[in-house]
Parts: sequence; C-alpha cells; structure tokens
Amino acid sequence: MAFAKSHDVKIGYDDTGDGLPVILLHAFPLNRTMWHEQVAALSDRWRFITPDHRGFGESSVVPSATMEEMAQDVAALLDGMQIERAVIGGLSMGGYVAFAFYRQFPQRVRALILADTRAEADTEEARRNRERMAERALREGAEAIAEEMIPKLVAAQTLREHPEITERLRLMIVRNDPAGIAAAQRGMAARRDQTDLLARIEVPTLIIVGREDQLTPPSLSEAMHGEIRGSHLVVIEGAAHVSNIERPQDFNRALEDFLQNIAPER
Ligand code: MLT
Repeated sequence: MAFAKSHDVKIGYDDTGDGLPVILLHAFPLNRTMWHEQVAALSDRWRFITPDHRGFGESSVVPSATMEEMAQDVAALLDGMQIERAVIGGLSMGGYVAFAFYRQFPQRVRALILADTRAEADTEEARRNRERMAERALREGAEAIAEEMIPKLVAAQTLREHPEITERLRLMIVRNDPAGIAAAQRGMAARRDQTDLLARIEVPTLIIVGREDQLTPPSLSEAMHGEIRGSHLVVIEGAAHVSNIERPQDFNRALEDFLQNIAPER
C-alpha cells in the first residue's frame, strides 16, 4: 500500500502487477480491498491500481467529496505515477467517478468498465434518503450504515449462505470514518446526470451487472448498453450489487475477456 497526494488530500492505493494499467474504483461505503479477488486472479497479466476514494480506507477524510473531486484524485494519482492513459473501471459509486473522470479527462481513458452503476442523477427522494443516511452515519456511526446497507448490497442467497462475504463487507464499512461516509453521500446526491455522455463515449466499454442488483438494476445497464456504441454487457447470475465479490469467477472472466482485447499502449 502506498500514498499519493491530490492537492491536500492523501490518497491510499495499491499498485499490483505489470502491463496495461487498470484503475478499479470502489463502491460506497467500502474501500479498495473490495477488488481483492480481481487483483489476485488477474495481476499476472495487467497492472491493477486500486485507490481508496477520499473519505474511505486509508485516504484522508475531507468535508467535500464530489464525484468530480474523486475523479481529480484519480488523475493526480496517475500523474504521480506518470501514467498518461489507463483503463478506468468502477463499481456503483466507482462508476459515478468513472463517468466524472471520462467527462473531465476523456483523452486519458483507454477503456471503461462500468459495473453495477448508473448514468442518471438522483431523484429528489433519493437525495433526501442520502441526507438521512449521512446524518445517521454522523449520529450513530458506521456500524448503523453497515446494518442498513449490507442487505441491499448482496443477493438473498449470498445473505443466507455466505456469512464470510457479509462479514467482510461489514468490516470494510465499519473501518470507515462516519464523516467520510456522510461526505460521499452528499457528493453522490449532488452528482450530475451523465446520460448525455453515453452516446459520446468512444472507447471500448464493458458493462457488468448482477442479475439481482436492486440498487442499480440490470434494466439500467441494458439502457447504457443501448447508448454506448460497441459496448459489451455481461449480466452475472446469482449476484446482486457487489457482483465482483459475490461471483468473482464470473466477474473475472468478463474482465479478462474484455481486457485481453485492449492493446497495450506503445
Ligand atoms: C454504491 O454501491 O456505491 C452505492 O450503493 C451507490 C449509491 O448509493 O448510489
């Protein structure tokens, strides 16, 4: 694990493997270790860079955490590593950051991976719910957020049969600072609609979604697939929102099939 600086914000990250750089951006309210199975299985072929977003994991907790700021943190990380272009992938909130990155730095994106995410902004109701959750995090702590979120992150079968997965998610969540959780909720509530970007995406794009994802349902991924020219869509059976953790082998196969067709930079 190493640190980079994005202005005054310290960004913790792991950098594993060699080859084409692939940035994987984690979901809310988790941390970079959610990508463990992908990095372990595939870093003999690609270089995986997995940062903690500001407010999470080992990164600094700061009051403001917009998707644009998180995307700028990724750009600063790449600058520090002297990487001009990379594959940018994200799951859920990580996908919101991937969209914000593509909008600000399209020339730095070699390819996109959009997992269990959406291009739309929040509804008013969703914004109110985020403010409620931000206040709950500050009042009751990260444990309360873990309790509320975990049943939404995984499929019913995962909840029943894989206590090791729910425990891992719980530990990721409770190790986060409630102030970071609240800032990200407010950042997500303020995020812009990115649907106008979809038809303008000109890089190879992989869209992945768990069949049982209720937070960002497959219909949203199908709509993105319809809009993004030449995109690939993979629906993962038996998984909900954290499809990479629930069905790592299927997720990794999709990643591998996609990445092997992206030529390394000369
Ligand atoms: C996530 O998994 O990152 C969050 O569920 C995204 C969201 O709350 O919109």
